[in-house]
Amino acid sequence: MKGIILAAGKGTRLYPASLPISKILLTVYDKPMVYYPLSTLIRAGIRDILVITSESDLENFKKVLGDGSQWGLKLSYLIQPVQRGIADAFLIAKDWIAGEPVALILGDNLFYGESVPALMKRAIRRGKGATVFGYAVKDPERFGVVEFDEKGNAISLEEKPSKPKSNYAVTGLYFYDGTVCDKATKLVPSTRGELEVTDLNRLYLEEGSLQVERLERGVAWLDTGTHDAMLQAGMYVQSMELNTGRKIACIEEQAYEQGFISADRLLEYLKGFKPNGYYDYIKDIVLRDMKG
Ligand code: DAU
Repeated sequence: MKGIILAAGKGTRLYPASLPISKILLTVYDKPMVYYPLSTLIRAGIRDILVITSESDLENFKKVLGDGSQWGLKLSYLIQPVQRGIADAFLIAKDWIAGEPVALILGDNLFYGESVPALMKRAIRRGKGATVFGYAVKDPERFGVVEFDEKGNAISLEEKPSKPKSNYAVTGLYFYDGTVCDKATKLVPSTRGELEVTDLNRLYLEEGSLQVERLERGVAWLDTGTHDAMLQAGMYVQSMELNTGRKIACIEEQAYEQGFISADRLLEYLKGFKPNGYYDYIKDIVLRDMKG
C-alpha cells in the first residue's frame, strides 16, 4: 500500500503564524506538524509515500523530509497548484498511484492512540473498497459527518451539514482501493468550488463498499485549526510525552520499530545531529535494544 500526505493548504486561518511557512511545517511541541501524519502512515507499515504540497513550500518540505531514505522510506513530491479540494489529490497523483491501493492523510490531522495501527492494518487487509474513521465530536457541523443505522452501518455522509445527523466526524485518514482515481475523475466541484472527499467517499458508500470504523475514546484526534487549538495540541503532546516518557510521532523511533532502518543505520544518522532531548531519546532506545 502507498500513502499520500496532503499538505498544500495555505493555512490562512493561522495567519500570521503560517505566513512564512506552511502550517504543516509549524511546530507542534517538539517537532514539525508533518511528523505526525507521517508517523501515522509509518505505523500502518507504509513506506512509499507522496507529499503533495504547494509550489512555494516544496523546498521547505524537502529540507525537512528529504527523500526519506534516512528513515528507510521512499518519499516523492508533487505540487497542487490550486486548492481544488482534497479529492484533487487523486487526479494529481494518478500516475504515481498507478492503480494500487492508497492511504490518504491530511497534513493537519494528528492521531494518537494504541489502537490506531491495528485499525489501519485491518483497513489495508480489507483490500477492496474504502475505509474511513468516525470520531465523536461536540461540533460535527465543522466536518464531514457520517450517519449510522441502528445496526451501526453507515447510511449517509454529508460535508459540514448545518443540521448534522450524528455527532460522528469523518477524520482526515482514508484508505482506498485501486479504483479511487477513476472515482475521483467522476466528481464535480461542490458549491464551494472543491472536489470534496466526502463526495468521493459517498461513491464508495453507494456501491456498498465503504467501511466506517469508529475510533474509541482512548484515541486522541487533535485539532490544529486555530491558534488556540495549535497551542493546545502542543501542550497535549508535551503532557503525554512527559507523563509516559515516550515520544509521540517520533519518526525515527517508528521507522526503527517497523524495521525500516537498522540500529546501526540509526546510530549513524544520529551522528549528524547535536545531542538534545529529542535525539538522546532515540539513542537511548537503540542502545537499550543493542544491549538486549
Ligand atoms: O479534518 C477532517 C475534515 O477534513 C473532514 O471531516 C472533512 O470531511 C474534510 O472536508 C476536511 O475538512 P476541512 O474543512 O478541515 O478541510 P480543509 O479545507 O481545512 O483542508 C484540510 C487540510 O488539507 C488542510 O491542511 C489543507 C489541505 N488541503 C485542502 C484542500 C481543500 C490541501 O492541501 N489542498 C486542498 O485543495
